[in-house]
Amino acid sequence: MSEALPFEEVYWPDKERYLEYYKKSVYDIERFWDERARELIWLKYWDRVLDDSNPPFYRWFVGGVTNININALDKWYGTSVENKVAYYWVGEPGDRRAVTYGDLYREVNRLAWALRELVGVKPGEGVTIYLPMIPELPISMLAVTRIGAFHSVVFSGFSAAALAERIVDAKSRILITADGFYRRGRIIELKKIADEAVRLAAERGVKVEKVIVVRRARVEVPWSEGRDLWYHELLNEAPPKAYVKPEPRQATDVLFILYTSGTTGKPKGIMHSVGGYMTYVYNVFKWNWDPRPDDIFWTAADIGWITGHTYIVYGPLMHGMTQIMYEGAPDYPNPGRIWSLVEEYGVTTFYTSPTMLRLLMKYGDKWLEGRDFSRLRLLGTVGEPINPEVWKWYYTKVGRERAPIVDTWWQTETGAAMISPAPGIALVPLKPGSATYPLPGIVADVLRDDGRPAEPGEKGLLVIKKPWPGMLMGIWGDPKRYIKTYWERFSKPEEGVWIYYPADYAVKDKDGYFWLLGRADEVMNVAGHRLGTIELEDAVLMHPAVSEAAVVGFPDPVKGEVPVALVVLKEGYEPSPKLEEEIKAKVREVIGPIAVPKRVLFVNKLPKTRSGKIMRRIILRLARGQDPGDVTTLEDPASVDEVKKALENLKS
Ligand code: WT7
Repeated sequence: MSEALPFEEVYWPDKERYLEYYKKSVYDIERFWDERARELIWLKYWDRVLDDSNPPFYRWFVGGVTNININALDKWYGTSVENKVAYYWVGEPGDRRAVTYGDLYREVNRLAWALRELVGVKPGEGVTIYLPMIPELPISMLAVTRIGAFHSVVFSGFSAAALAERIVDAKSRILITADGFYRRGRIIELKKIADEAVRLAAERGVKVEKVIVVRRARVEVPWSEGRDLWYHELLNEAPPKAYVKPEPRQATDVLFILYTSGTTGKPKGIMHSVGGYMTYVYNVFKWNWDPRPDDIFWTAADIGWITGHTYIVYGPLMHGMTQIMYEGAPDYPNPGRIWSLVEEYGVTTFYTSPTMLRLLMKYGDKWLEGRDFSRLRLLGTVGEPINPEVWKWYYTKVGRERAPIVDTWWQTETGAAMISPAPGIALVPLKPGSATYPLPGIVADVLRDDGRPAEPGEKGLLVIKKPWPGMLMGIWGDPKRYIKTYWERFSKPEEGVWIYYPADYAVKDKDGYFWLLGRADEVMNVAGHRLGTIELEDAVLMHPAVSEAAVVGFPDPVKGEVPVALVVLKEGYEPSPKLEEEIKAKVREVIGPIAVPKRVLFVNKLPKTRSGKIMRRIILRLARGQDPGDVTTLEDPASVDEVKKALENLKS
């Protein structure tokens, strides 16, 4: 094992050098990104770096042709990277696999061949992938993009109804899933859930024609002859040395869609582009993690979210990284699981969410003490604001004060990190809890409600003032919602001013550091995952006993916030623990386990305006123990006391 290097020697903070690089990058963003994109392999270079003739539908690298497989896989074939491990995979029960770049290349080619020749997947069509954390997940994503189709990966913790919703929206004919997988020592029978989703999708007029099933848990599965196909049998039918030429794709084609929650009940299919996403992710990965050939890189997240797409699949593969990929729960069979893997594999770069850190911190330091973490040189966080207390714990106990913390602010929509330290360029001095400065090419600011810039230290709304290659192309099938959600808040189209609005509160301090302070819309951040308030309320309302529902995010020491439902029952129903459980089960069924409310509280009245709008803001304030504010516009101010009382039950 290599000698530990104190971080001052590896990453001497140099703010001036970073800011100099940054200033050059934003002086002429088109030129900057033009140069950055040339670091990748293209089949044809672009005619225009940025087409901004139809804002906010920006198009990057127009006329450019490529396929991300060329930069993530084919580029390594025949080089020394071919025999390098891409994924050290660890199953929850302890089974292991080492998948090299050569293995990936061969299996992706065979699967691509089978998908095209046997299953009939066409370029430009969408394939839904519902897989757990097994190597077949990145392999499927690459095979799909190799033949010019796009993927829609659905997190394996989502329910049948949630999967069906996404299949219907994307109109997928093809679904890739698994028999089951391990979670906390149990087998989750994924194929059964997938079958139910296929049935629900058919009811809504979308017929899934083929279901490809990876054998992972070796459980018995229901089988529909003619529709269902075993993944391993498909591979066996492909020629052992199958080679499928990566389908040439326009830079402005869709690489994938990924659903995320918004302020309505319907999830948004965020579309990412072939050329822009590839360019942005390649570069940001380099800036964030300063990759080196001997690194062992671990993003402890699920590929079902954007973090995994960017930092487990495309980013690391484009840099030839060796990674850890773990199937199961972070604290199973004991709270030392993550740390023992970090030690055993000599992880150099570890990236996870504050929620995970708070969970592991809660178990106490004994799970960390005495471990050899001497190879760790960079630590990252993503998904939520990290409280300084947790930051310091991460820095001292995990990083042993040698590894800088890379706090990365970004979103599903942004493709990769936007505001974060960039040790791959020059590290700026860190402040616990701040994501520091925008990355090169990113023009960020904090505005007041009225659109004027906030003062240093004043809380306002984060905005991005220039397009960037990793930006979403739009919302699948809903261009109006794209404009309304992200661009209407601060843009002035008459003046040609277009400003991207992420819906996050932020402060810029006197040194220009950004501090991200959480969501500014009706979206919760539960354990680093976005959940829409309305989406949750819709699920609660599906229970036949519920007449009205309001869901708010209640502060939680581990998960940041957790949903709590306030429910008014219909005539003839009585509050009971059984009913509470039933309503929770409903949410589990409609969305999935991540969305289940911590509590369902029964009240006689919700605080509403005279026009009948539920005042969630008031409930939210009460939940956070704050003064409810102005309640005079309420239909019945007494409802506030009732909500207050119900919430008090919660604390005990
Ligand atoms: C929202 C995006 C980006 C991958 C994981 C989440 C919050 C994200 C940070 C951070 C404070 C953060 C924001 C953002 N968020 N990173 N470093 N500090 N807040 O992706 O589900 O699209 O959620 O997560 O509120 O808008 P997502």
